[in-house]
Formats: sequence, C-alpha cells, structure tokens
Amino acid sequence: MENFIYSIPTTVYFGKGQIENLAEIVSQYGKKVLLVYGGGSIKRNGIYEKVTAILTGAGIEWEELSGVDPNPRVESVREGAAICKEKGIEVVIPIGGGSSIDCAKVVAAAACYDGDAWELVTNSSLIKVALPIIAILTLAATGSEMDHIAVISNMTTNDKIGTRANCLRPKAAIMDPTYTESVSAYQTASGTADIMSHTLESYFSNFEGYMHDRMAEGILKTCIEFGMKAVENPHDYEARANLMWASSWAINDFLKLGKPVTWSVHPMEHELSAYYDITHGVGLAILTPHWMRHVLDDRTVEKFRTYAVNVWDVSKELPAYEAAELGIQKTAEYFKAMGLPTRLSEVGITDDSKFAIMAEKSAKKLKGAYAELSKEVVEQIFREAM
Ligand code: NZQ
Ligand code: ZN
Repeated sequence: MENFIYSIPTTVYFGKGQIENLAEIVSQYGKKVLLVYGGGSIKRNGIYEKVTAILTGAGIEWEELSGVDPNPRVESVREGAAICKEKGIEVVIPIGGGSSIDCAKVVAAAACYDGDAWELVTNSSLIKVALPIIAILTLAATGSEMDHIAVISNMTTNDKIGTRANCLRPKAAIMDPTYTESVSAYQTASGTADIMSHTLESYFSNFEGYMHDRMAEGILKTCIEFGMKAVENPHDYEARANLMWASSWAINDFLKLGKPVTWSVHPMEHELSAYYDITHGVGLAILTPHWMRHVLDDRTVEKFRTYAVNVWDVSKELPAYEAAELGIQKTAEYFKAMGLPTRLSEVGITDDSKFAIMAEKSAKKLKGAYAELSKEVVEQIFREAM
C-alpha cells in the first residue's frame, strides 16, 4: 500500500428528514445563498418547496440558477458566477444529481475568480478558493456530494473535462434517500452503473490494497443487490439508502487512497458525452464490458478471476480465464437486466466519424491506468460497442 493522507471532511446528514438541519448548516457560512438546480424535478417532487420554506423561515435570502443540463455546460457556470458576484452570494446550494452539484462547484470557484470559468475547468491549479457548498442530493450516482471533482462540458469545442480541488468538496451533504424515489428506472439503473464503474476504476489498479479491494467488492455487491430492487420498486427505502451511501463511498477517495490509479473507462465515456451528449452512466455500462475484454490477459487474469469469484459468486474451481470471462459476462448481463442499452447505436450513436479523434483524446488520459491502451485500441473499443 502506498502512503496517503486521509481527509474526507464533508459532514453528511443522512436519512429521512435531514433537510430540517439546513438552516443551521447554512447559518454557519452566511445568509445569502444561490440555489442551483436542473430542469424542474425538484419542483415536481416537492423538494424545492420544502427547501425554500426552510430558508424563508430562517431569514436566509436566495437567488437561483435553474435549468442546469445533464452534462452541465460552462454557460450555466458563467451565469451562476455572475449572479454570485452581482448579488454577494455567500453559500452555494446545489439541489439535484451530479450535474447540479458539479455546476455549483465551479460556480463557487468562479465566483472567487476574475477570469473566465472555463479556465478553472481546463486548469485545476487555478482553483485556489471557492464559496462554501452545501449539497442536497436527489440522485445516487456520481458521488459528487462527497468528492472534490466537477465535470463540465463545453459543447462548442466538444470537451467534457473534470476539474478538481479540495475547496470544491461540499462542506455538508444532505442525503435523504426518499428524495431519490422519484428518479426514473432508467436514471436509477444508469446511476447504479456509474457507482459500479467508479468502484471498478479503483479496483483495477496496479497497486495492492487488500482492504480496499474487499471494501470495493462490498460496494459492488451492494449495487448488484439494490440497483435492480430500486429499478423494480422505486419506493424501496433500503435499496435507495444503500445506493445513496454506496455512491458517496465509491468515489470519496477512500477506495483509492494508498492504491492510486488513473481511470480508464471514464475518459472514454466523457468523449462519448462530449460529442453525443449521452447519459454518463449509460455510456459507462455500454463500454465497461468491452474495456474488460480488452484488458483481460495473462497479466490481469487473476484479478479478473478474483472479481468474478468475490463479486459474482463464480466458482473458484473454474480455470482462471473461464472464471474471468464469466465475471465479465455477468457484468454485461446485469446492466442489461436493469434495462440499460448495450450498444452505442441504441443511444443514437450510429456515426463513427468522430471515433478517431475521441480515441486520441481519451488515450492521452490513460497514462498510469491499469492498462495503458493505445488510441487504436480505444477506437476499436468504440467500434465494438457500436
Ligand atoms: O434536471 P432535473 O429536472 O433535476 O432532472 C434530472 C436529470 O434529468 C433527473 N433527476 C435528478 N434527481 C431526480 C431526477 N428526476 C426525478 N427525481 C429526482 N429526485 O435525473 C437526470 C440526470 O441528472 P444528473 O444530475 O445529470 O445525473 P447524474 O447524477 O448522473 O450526474 C451526471 C453528471 O455528473 C458527471 C457526469 O459526467 C455528468 O455530467 N460526473 C461527475 C462526477 C463527480 N463530480 O465526481 C464523477 C462522475 O464520474 C461523472 O463524470
Ligand atoms: Zn462516473
């Protein structure tokens, strides 16, 4: 295990009714807030009404940045930063999934920065300070509620880039699993695939971490147990709660501290989203089994066997390659059983003319990955996934 510093300072308020703590949490940081949310799900499920009633009751003023897109755009970030500067915002409160939270993170940083917000996305080192962020989570998927990453898209240049800084980690996260009961079966499945992918990205590392791997297997088993249950019964509280807590722990650094690795499937998926604006978790579910098949070889087969045996209950008695391939097959079958597409053509990607440039961009990000795939291999993965 490598050396590391453990510091995951987000205060988590987990469970039914935790929103009642909102005014007290906000008051620690200020009296003027910016609410950041998406296309209106929080108005339909009553969360907006509840939050604004609490703010009003506590004498906290708010402004709003609404209409944040899935795959949040830099234009929204610029708009939010301008509101913060003009209105003297002290606290940023995203209410939603990863898109609203990510947008809010860069808004919080751009509010304290004189240049253009996109510079903070392309160059993380420019992020020195940010307004405090209090995340209200409504979708279990990205783990943005407890991590220091924000992924922003610029559709004019076909770039989707992750930026990161410790000051972007939310000061607090309100995580009420009942808020996710209105998430559609498709988004629930997609979120589950995303949580699994984050876990797998850390699991398949060239560094040892026995404890990390057993924790990762636990998170994967949790997703397998409860992803399908939440898809089938959106009001299954235990399923929603387990997925929500798994989403945070898959990516809050815990699984990778001491076991560093550059991620593999995410850089490829981010190119798909950047060029075709598809749902992040869906892209991951489609690509993951193909990636696995490409990196399975004599060097990696034992790790894949362990994955198959410990996560998918494949028999230990099987020859290594047979067990490994069964694990990959079960991964693909599970995503499909949750109702996710298995081919890029199913999400409208029928034109392969951008694959070469996308492969080149993602292959550049694979230095230090579990397997450093060439741009030719990445392009082949895109083609096979079509
Ligand atoms: O926009 P609204 O109306 O809120 O609807 C959203 C959106 O259409 C809906 N939704 C959210 N909560 C709901 C709900 N619908 C009904 N009931 C609820 N309670 O779900 C749709 C998707 O929301 P979004 O926030 O886009 O989903 P997700 O949480 O999957 O976030 C995806 C974004 O996060 C990035 C992705 O790349 C993508 O841009 N990621 C962020 C990461 C991070 N910060 O660490 C890591 C991830 O790997 C990922 O890259
Ligand atoms: Zn992800």
